[in-house]
Amino acid sequence: MRPRKNRNLVLIGYMGCGKSTIGTKSARAFGFRFYDTDQLIEENEGCTIAELFTQKGEPYFRMCETELIKGLIRKPKGMVIATGGGLPMTEENRSLLKKLGTVVYIKCGIDTLVSRLTGDTKRPLLAEGELESKVRTMMKLREPVYESVADVVLETDGKSFYETICVLEKILKEKR
Ligand code: S3P
Repeated sequence: MRPRKNRNLVLIGYMGCGKSTIGTKSARAFGFRFYDTDQLIEENEGCTIAELFTQKGEPYFRMCETELIKGLIRKPKGMVIATGGGLPMTEENRSLLKKLGTVVYIKCGIDTLVSRLTGDTKRPLLAEGELESKVRTMMKLREPVYESVADVVLETDGKSFYETICVLEKILKEKR
């Protein structure tokens, strides 16, 4: 039986952890609407995230993220929302995410992240420096924050998409 559409699932986690893919697949499985905050910002602003960082700067991008979450809170429930990796890093956004829905930290190991992010050209924060040390440094700062805001930590290393989606389905049916 599909979950009732009286809840939202909010996926958080570091770049490359799979929020968008897991979000798309789970929304399809549950009959929920899928939103990706980066994609919505790109549509609203008419440019890529990388262009937005260059043209208007990171603080402007962060303001877009906050406004977007405020807008999503006003929409009818039954959504899966994939968020940008930096979105939970402010207090204001964390309390907005809690209002938006059940927050799930999509957790995977550094090795998985690095292998997925190698060769990436879309993420301005990874454009310079050595990738692995950058990921390690940022994760040291971010992981405690992801864990503190999450209602559930979902480890995905070693799980198939099917298994991951089953866990999400269970969360939707049980966790409040
Ligand atoms: C960012 C993550 C990106 C995007 C932007 C900044 C971050 O989203 O929002 O490049 O600060 O971690 P993904 O997590 O979807 O890659």
